[in-house]
Amino acid sequence: MFRVNKMIAGILPLMPEKLVWLFSSRYIAGQNLSDALDITRQLNAQGMQTTIDLLGEFLMTASKIDRYKSEYERLIDTSAEELLDNSFSVKPTMFGLLIDRDLCYLNLHDIVSKAVSHDRFVRIDMEDSQCTDRELELFRRLHAEFPGHVGIVLQACLKRTMDDLNMLAASVPYRDKLNIRICKGIYDEAPAIAYKKKEDVSRNFLKALEFMIGHDMFAAIATHDKKLVEGAYRLISRYKVRNDRYEFQMLYGVTPELRRSVVESGHRMRVYVPYGKEWFNYSLRRLRENPRMISHIIKALFVRR
Ligand code: FDA
Repeated sequence: MFRVNKMIAGILPLMPEKLVWLFSSRYIAGQNLSDALDITRQLNAQGMQTTIDLLGEFLMTASKIDRYKSEYERLIDTSAEELLDNSFSVKPTMFGLLIDRDLCYLNLHDIVSKAVSHDRFVRIDMEDSQCTDRELELFRRLHAEFPGHVGIVLQACLKRTMDDLNMLAASVPYRDKLNIRICKGIYDEAPAIAYKKKEDVSRNFLKALEFMIGHDMFAAIATHDKKLVEGAYRLISRYKVRNDRYEFQMLYGVTPELRRSVVESGHRMRVYVPYGKEWFNYSLRRLRENPRMISHIIKALFVRR
């Protein structure tokens, strides 16, 4: 099945955009800022928060950066004006991480400053392993300047993740304001640096979560894996974690039934809502990185929302 998925992922770029949109529209709010705000409004009404992500990543020239920055600033202002309950997710490679680290830092600094002016929160998404050190460094700088307003992501598939958590716990100021999203990790990394077996990734996920809870960090638990959700419930109950010290997070369009059951059990839920004109490349990249998603997508075509 994996080989078939990989083959389909390979031919997707040859398909017309309209057809790929059929696959992707379930997972993407739309192409415009107003689409992301509409979805946020609907989810807020159902008792959930969102984190909005403008699509675009892995820029190798700086030409589009100013446009992306203005769009994020408009998004932050409009969310605040409309009193929506959402935060923001950013990918540093959209702001030049792979071109010039200082350029990226200055851009993110402006975005986080704008968010702070409205008392909002920005999370730095974690990209592939060439970015891990740079993104942790960016986070440490911004966290020191804006404690409680900026967060990071760690990937349970990476063997280094427990070391990174120990490093953050030992060396970062305002530890109680550390806010970390733990996820499995979507990028296909080499076996030398990444766990390849599902059970090893899951074990590391729960180990990292337990560490975060034990060190009084805010834990954003990002998974659609029922076993991990149940594992997280057990840790939350064993350590009597206060409801405002953690949240579950799921991607827009994925496992809505599980999402509902988490909310009905009284836990906080934040939905990751991507939008933007770059949806085509985003979809293809996600599929190439993780051809297993093809099976989910094919299923999605036949299951009504
Ligand atoms: P798993 O892949 O085992 O999925 C569990 C079940 O969920 C599947 O059996 C299936 O039913 C369903 N499912 C999962 N994905 C689906 C899909 N796309 N369509 C339909 N059904 C699906 N990664 C990263 O490297 N850096 C990051 O910054 C982030 N950020 C992030 C934020 C949020 C809010 C989430 C939920 C996830 C991320 N990720 C991420 C992605 C993450 O690393 C991981 O690849 C996915 O969440 C899939 O892993 P699960 O834990 O959901 O388990």
